[in-house]
Amino acid sequence: MKQAFTLEPSYRRLGHGADYFPEQWLKRPDILRRDLEDMQAVGVNVVSIGMFAWSFLETSEGHYNFDFLRERLDALHSAGISVFLATPSAAPPRWMTRRYPEIMLTDSYGRRRYSGERICHCLSSEVFREKVSAINQKLAAAFSDHPAVVAWHVSNEYGSTCHCPKCQAKFRDYLRNYFDNDIEALNQAWYSSFWSHIYDNFEEIEAPSPLGEQHCHGLVIAWKRFHSELMLDFYRHECRAIDQASKRQLPKTTNFHIFNGIQNGPDYFDFAQELDFISWDDYPYWHQTSHSNAYEAAGRALIHDFCYSVHQAPFVLMESSPGAVNWQDVCTLRAPGLQTLSSIQALAHGADSIQYFQWRASRGSSEKFHAAVMDHSGSRDTRIFREISEVSHALDCLSEAGLAGSHRHAQIAFVYDWQNAYAFYECEGLRKQKPNYFEILRAAYAPLWAQGIAVDLIDRNCPEEQIGQYKLILAPLLYSLPRNFANKLERYVAAGGHLTTGPFSCRVDENDLVFEAGALDPWREMLGLRLEESGGLYDSDAIAVEAYCAGQKIRSSARLIMDLIYPEADNCELLGRYASGDFAGQAAWIRHPYGHGSSDYFAFLGDADFYQHYWSAEIQRLALKPPVSAKLIPGLSLATRENGSRRFIFVMNFSPDPARASLETSVYDLMNRETVEAEEVFEIGAYGYRLFCQEI
Ligand code: GLA
Ligand code: ZN
Repeated sequence: MKQAFTLEPSYRRLGHGADYFPEQWLKRPDILRRDLEDMQAVGVNVVSIGMFAWSFLETSEGHYNFDFLRERLDALHSAGISVFLATPSAAPPRWMTRRYPEIMLTDSYGRRRYSGERICHCLSSEVFREKVSAINQKLAAAFSDHPAVVAWHVSNEYGSTCHCPKCQAKFRDYLRNYFDNDIEALNQAWYSSFWSHIYDNFEEIEAPSPLGEQHCHGLVIAWKRFHSELMLDFYRHECRAIDQASKRQLPKTTNFHIFNGIQNGPDYFDFAQELDFISWDDYPYWHQTSHSNAYEAAGRALIHDFCYSVHQAPFVLMESSPGAVNWQDVCTLRAPGLQTLSSIQALAHGADSIQYFQWRASRGSSEKFHAAVMDHSGSRDTRIFREISEVSHALDCLSEAGLAGSHRHAQIAFVYDWQNAYAFYECEGLRKQKPNYFEILRAAYAPLWAQGIAVDLIDRNCPEEQIGQYKLILAPLLYSLPRNFANKLERYVAAGGHLTTGPFSCRVDENDLVFEAGALDPWREMLGLRLEESGGLYDSDAIAVEAYCAGQKIRSSARLIMDLIYPEADNCELLGRYASGDFAGQAAWIRHPYGHGSSDYFAFLGDADFYQHYWSAEIQRLALKPPVSAKLIPGLSLATRENGSRRFIFVMNFSPDPARASLETSVYDLMNRETVEAEEVFEIGAYGYRLFCQEI
């Protein structure tokens, strides 16, 4: 477990700040001066600097000039503001990309990018690595002991995938290593007898491409894994350079970029192992026509929970937008209060610092209409400035009460496995447009989010001791299942755990080979059932499902995909059946008591309504309980954090209407500084929140 990140250990102050780009305003000393006053006025105590400032820092090859940065760091320090100092590798200067065009990435058609843009560089390029190393060392030598700097913000949202000859050569080395130099092992694992595309040696391997091999799933998945590792290797490379020249060791992070799914980006469970603290960039899609803001909020909370889970420690919300986000399909204005509420939710789910993108709106280029704490007019008299001042006030109350460093305790874990996503999105079958892995988890998560039942996210590498602590593990759509993970989960169930899985789960091993004995093989005994077929449904199809659970009739529907399953073990309980369509009457949900625990297999994807019923039955069966019970109406959410002696209770209203709620125990209201008695009804405004605490 990693240490929680705290800004000022003595006071344990929660962080509050923004991405700060003073380099855009060097010709406006008046603005630079005002920045500090405005930051103080709105309660900023930490900013990120430098992620896109390379041209200013290395003005021509080998000519470094850190004057402006030093001036800013000094000024920030005098103003009592700390700094996450960024390395600038996400956007190298134009002189560099012109002189060394090979640092630009090559796409899957073999076309090399022209200079410009960002996060589009070859992470194998020696020149690029040298240049990054050099600037990181210089920055570390100059600023690692600067009193303003509290942590390193390494690069920005790693995400380049390059097909150049160097990356391909590295890929072959990666494969030689993975397959122990045994090409036959690779041929077996990739099933290259198909279309008889056998590899005679590692030299023959090319990266997947629309112009070449792209249907060999083993190859494509290996390529995704390789790039995930290459990004991590690049992160390590950056860190080494920092360490070599540092006069003082500081914690390091890189900002995770998980907008709405995980199918292509790096495996952040792997990344998490290397980071000193987790940070991520959150850009919710508020005010959509397809779903409520409450459902959107549940999705964001799920990712916060991921960020908390990976270290079991608080994280930094490194970017969030204080208003309209310029790159979204429709850049909606936030309803009054929603921005503040969104920051409060991050704290409720484990953030110890709230950062915005960005401090001041740029005048030109692509992000000029992206919201910022300070708009173009530089006025403090704006709605956004006022809301951010409110966040600051809440942060003060919570800091004083001791929230920083406090924890969350989950009884339930969801499996959210990057490697599974890589494989599932490659596999051809079911339907061209695959169900969204993130959406499947969100549907299951939303009812728990509402009630304040905390969830951890885990992957195949989760240690067995940790697995054993959960009362229930939900693993929907766990298509790719290495045997050792299957065995770990089976032992968990045998020892008394409860596992819920399906549909289309347990189909292939880590090499994407179907299990030799067919679907579900490693779990056949545990699940007590047989799976014969899986198929896709058209978007408009909805096959009725009827289930009986804890004496209640639950209706749901199978959408997008469905399995045909058959009970096998004598003690199976048939909890649900298809109730319409060609397979009406057939099993859709089977529970099997196994060892001291039980397994559930869903042959369909449940929606949030289904999960609402499912969880209320499971909460009874497994005696799951939130730390505080509450009477809440839809749209409200409860979350708790605890330090050794105190519990913090966040009640949040993600609906546009004012609401009322009550808690089963008496609590202290941190903002209004008064006691609220057990069962006393309190008000929460539209997009409002209440912050309570109680001694434990
Ligand atoms: C990303 C980047 C930022 C900025 C924001 C805008 O998350 O990290 O630099 O471009 O998007 O929303
Ligand atoms: Zn490359």
